[in-house]
Order: sequence, then structure tokens, then C-alpha cells
Amino acid sequence: MLLLGGGLMGLAIAHQLARLGRAVTVLSRRRSEAAGFVAAGMLAPHAEGLSGPMLALGQASLERIPAWVARIEADSGLPCGLRPCGIVVPFSSAAERDAYPTAAWGVPLDRTGLERELPGLGTPWRHGLLFAQDGQIDNRRRLMRALERACVALGVRFEEGSQVLELLTGDGGRLRGVRLRRAEGGEHTIAATTAVLACGAWSGQLLPSLPVRPVKGQMLSLQGPRASLKRVLFGPGTYLVPREDGLLVVGATSEPEASFDDGLTPEGQKQLQQGLVALLPEAALWPPMERWWGFRPGTPDGAPLLGPGPIEGVWLATGHYRNGVLLAAITAELIAEAITAAEQRSGASPELLAPFRWDRPQPATPAAHTPPGARASP
Ligand code: GLY
Repeated sequence: MLLLGGGLMGLAIAHQLARLGRAVTVLSRRRSEAAGFVAAGMLAPHAEGLSGPMLALGQASLERIPAWVARIEADSGLPCGLRPCGIVVPFSSAAERDAYPTAAWGVPLDRTGLERELPGLGTPWRHGLLFAQDGQIDNRRRLMRALERACVALGVRFEEGSQVLELLTGDGGRLRGVRLRRAEGGEHTIAATTAVLACGAWSGQLLPSLPVRPVKGQMLSLQGPRASLKRVLFGPGTYLVPREDGLLVVGATSEPEASFDDGLTPEGQKQLQQGLVALLPEAALWPPMERWWGFRPGTPDGAPLLGPGPIEGVWLATGHYRNGVLLAAITAELIAEAITAAEQRSGASPELLAPFRWDRPQPATPAAHTPPGARASP
């Protein structure tokens, strides 16, 4: 079984399949560019203002995350940095708060409540929603490493530096293998009748019919005092994610027009800095630590592409856009279940997958231009 992509989805699915006793090889071009290393690690179906099948999928994943993390920690011997710390979404008016798509799942806060949850919050914010059930995980420093270690411990093979160039099909259009270029050069063919495509923002390069496009995000981090912020603060356009040791991750720009343009930009960094000051003015004086960027796998409706793909034998686990860290647990479980069911011809694919077929109708205006839960700054 081949896993195309060694990012968070590739690792999570490889881990799940290896736990089921499957022999798995992960083909990864460059692990450092995976969105799993870039994201802030929010577990935020409610704070992101999801709705419909996306909310159901996000909530199902959130429920599974503690047990999923416990399995990764047991298999790897490494901590993942899961922090069920709750997320506060601030608003300038009560009307905006009450109209938020997930308001029914949150605890309404007035200014006094906001100051109790988030001392130092900028003064224009008068109302809020506390989603105590949402949280975060330290994807960048801990989860990715722990998942890799867990996979290795379970016998998963890794081919780092392998760029898959083509999916090869045989009789009846079924997958028969992949053509790839290895780090040391030369092109090779690997035979395979089953593969999972989890190439994130690059998925459309292998299968151009997939509606996946890069949505660039720039980030930065600052060192704050330990326990300076006890909740994640999810503002419009900017969010602050406090790690256990006081590191504050600040995200993120949303730049669909940048395509795969590498690098930081003055405008992007300025936007983050302004968002930071509006949310937590005192943090403007905290020492900067890192700045980085990456590419979300965006789809027009902002939901992932999951399940059987356009080529028989190729399964899709891509297009997770803003919610990859949240959705990794449920994606791994559902994809492994669907592959097993198809191989054993034993019943239906999991019901939760049905709304996420790759060829569903898509809106004309991509979600990347109107992120879920979008609202005005005060
Ligand atoms: N999950 C938040 C983002 O993609 O920026």
C-alpha cells in the first residue's frame, strides 16, 4: 500500500493502516513543506464557525482526538502537546456574536467575562463566545515528530525525497503503479494497486481534475511569559495560539492569489502584527521567535476531498484547507475503514465520507475568499 505524501494526513493514515497490520510505504518529496509543520494546530470546529457536514466531521474528529493522541504517544514514546484549553472568539457587538454560525455551541461572554478568560484583550472587543470544547495541539514541534516515530515503530517504510510524477493505470483504468523520481536522481516505477493520495496543496499536480489549489498562509511566533494566555484567541483574520511554555503562535494570512510563491512578504507580516496588537496589545513587546509560511490545500467549498478518487485504487485524503490538524484523526480512521471495506467487499463505505466525494458540485466563489466565520474587525 502506497501513501503519496508524508505530511500530517499521510502519516496519520499510514499509522492507522500499520496498526491494522498493513504494510505501508510513504513516498514524500520534502517533509518540511508539509502543512502539518506550518499550521498553528487549532482544534477548532466551533471557533472556525463550521456548519453542515463539515461541522459534523470536525466534531467527530474532535471527539476522537484524545484517544488518537494516546495511541500515537504509546506507539512513539513521545508527547504530542495536546492542550484542551478552549478557544475564545471575540466580537465587537452582541448581534455579531449571536449570528455566529456555531453560537449555539458556545458560552456567551460580555466584557467582564472576556477579561476573566483573556486578561489584556484589546479594548474594542465587548462580546465573545467561549468554546471550552475546542483546543490545540503542538503540531509543529511535537505531533509530526511523534507520528513519524510511531509509524517507524510499526514498520512503515519511508522514501523521503521521492517525487511522484505520474499515476500509472492498466486494464480498465485501474491503478497499477506510480512513476517517481528519487532524491539520488533517475526515474523509477513502483507497482501498486492501492494508493492514498495525501499530497496537500500539491494534489492537483498529480490529478488535475481535483479541485485543490494552494492558499498561502504566513505565520510568526513570539515568546510570551509562561501561562500569559490560557485560551486560544480567535480574532477575525488573526488568531493567537499559546503553547504551554509561553510561545505564542500568530496566524495567519490567507493568500489564494499567491499560488505557490515562496517567502514572507512585508504586507503579510504587517497584517499579522496589526492583528496581534488589536487582540493583545501587550504582546507587541514580546520577543519575536520565528516567521514562516506554507500552503493550505484549498477547495472551492472549503471542505476536504475524501474517499475513492477518479482512478480506481486511488483513495483521496486531501483538500483539508484550514482544518487539517483537526481532521487528521477522523480522516485516518475513515480512509482506513473505507479501504478495508472495499477490499473485503464487506459493506458500505463509512457514511461520514459521503458528503466529501471529490466530484461533488462546487460553488463558483471559492471559500478561500470568504473564510468560514468571517467577520469584521472592530
Ligand atoms: N486553521 C487556521 C488557518 O488555516 O489559518
